[in-house]
Amino acid sequence: MHKEITITIGGTAAGRVVGGSRIAEIAPLLSGEPEVFVVYDEQVSWVAGEVMAAVPGVRGSIAIEATEEGKSMETVLLIARSLLEAGASRKALVLAVGGGITTDLAGFVASIYKRGIRYANVPTTLLAQVDAAIGGKTGVNFDSYKNMLGVIVQPVFTFICAEVLQTLPRRDFLSGAAEMLKTFVIENEDDHYARALAWISSGSTDGQELILAAAAVKAGVVSRDPFEAGERRKLNLGHTFAHAIEHEARLRGEDVTHGEAVAMGMVLAARVADALGVSSGLEASLTQDFTTAGLPTQCPYPMETLAEAMDKDKKAEGGLVHFVLPERIGSVVIRDLSVAVALNALITN
Ligand SMILES: NC(=O)c1ccc[n+]([C@@H]2O[C@H](COP(=O)([O-])OP(=O)(O)OC[C@H]3O[C@@H](n4cnc5c(N)ncnc54)[C@H](O)[C@@H]3O)[C@@H](O)[C@H]2O)c1
Repeated sequence: MHKEITITIGGTAAGRVVGGSRIAEIAPLLSGEPEVFVVYDEQVSWVAGEVMAAVPGVRGSIAIEATEEGKSMETVLLIARSLLEAGASRKALVLAVGGGITTDLAGFVASIYKRGIRYANVPTTLLAQVDAAIGGKTGVNFDSYKNMLGVIVQPVFTFICAEVLQTLPRRDFLSGAAEMLKTFVIENEDDHYARALAWISSGSTDGQELILAAAAVKAGVVSRDPFEAGERRKLNLGHTFAHAIEHEARLRGEDVTHGEAVAMGMVLAARVADALGVSSGLEASLTQDFTTAGLPTQCPYPMETLAEAMDKDKKAEGGLVHFVLPERIGSVVIRDLSVAVALNALITN
């Protein structure tokens, strides 16, 4: 089992992902840190409390409300002001305790406070453990655009402990489960995909080994392509469609989680892959698997509507869309296609 994974960028260790079976096991990672400031989601004050009980000398803590509306420059300024008032120096380390909203926000503040101080993550959602808290993408929403302002700076460490998931609502758990399954569709060593399906369906949150395995896949991809010039795009499997689904849901005032959109998006990617001969029968098998896991598989919106949203993205990127298509469980390819070709594959199959 992976207990510690190093993220290496350009031959240098840039950060690490460390597993612990209890929250208190974070303590050695912070020993010798002169100034730790905890930025935490108020929903997980219990986790922040356990961290602070285990780590002597935390200099200050800042609670935030984790909402997409609050993932904003205003909150960045509030956190920065709190750090300044508490006397945080350039030696300070910001410790983010929460889901992806909190780790994105706190990492961004750290990256600009006094021209950049260090940060580390204690992700408390499955989604953040396998995805958001690894890889160094930080940032906030701006006007109506998601994650429009931000930087890529690696956290010193990401501490992963399945214990924190005990209080995570099932729907949020499943949202992260979709990202975990996505990871294992991309790389499937040791039959992780099938084991993840069984774990997710079991209702247990005790999945430390699988969470670390998924985190290791992401850490490996990030090490090879930290700034998304090529391979890191693979992690977008299902996401081109998912973003279009989320966009349409927002317009209709409907509530779709990111993971639900990703699950439906992966099924659509498999449909395109089947239609283009990249894969065979994958749409049917993913549909069956995700249904077993309790995830939605059928996009409720007309394909033409999704194509419109994707077309807008396409214009922003000037031409073709990088579609990530699954060949089989454990292997994906990137194909640059026009939205028209993808739409044709979706509606004729
Ligand atoms: N940086 C990246 O690479 C990256 C990747 C994927 C997603 N993201 C970002 O992550 C965000 C979504 O992340 P998320 O799903 O973790 O969202 P989140 O931070 O909003 O957490 C989801 C909900 O769960 C609550 N919560 C968190 N941990 C809990 C726990 N242990 N017990 C009870 N409640 C808990 C939160 O208060 C919130 O209501 C988005 O803003 C997205 O843009 C970033």
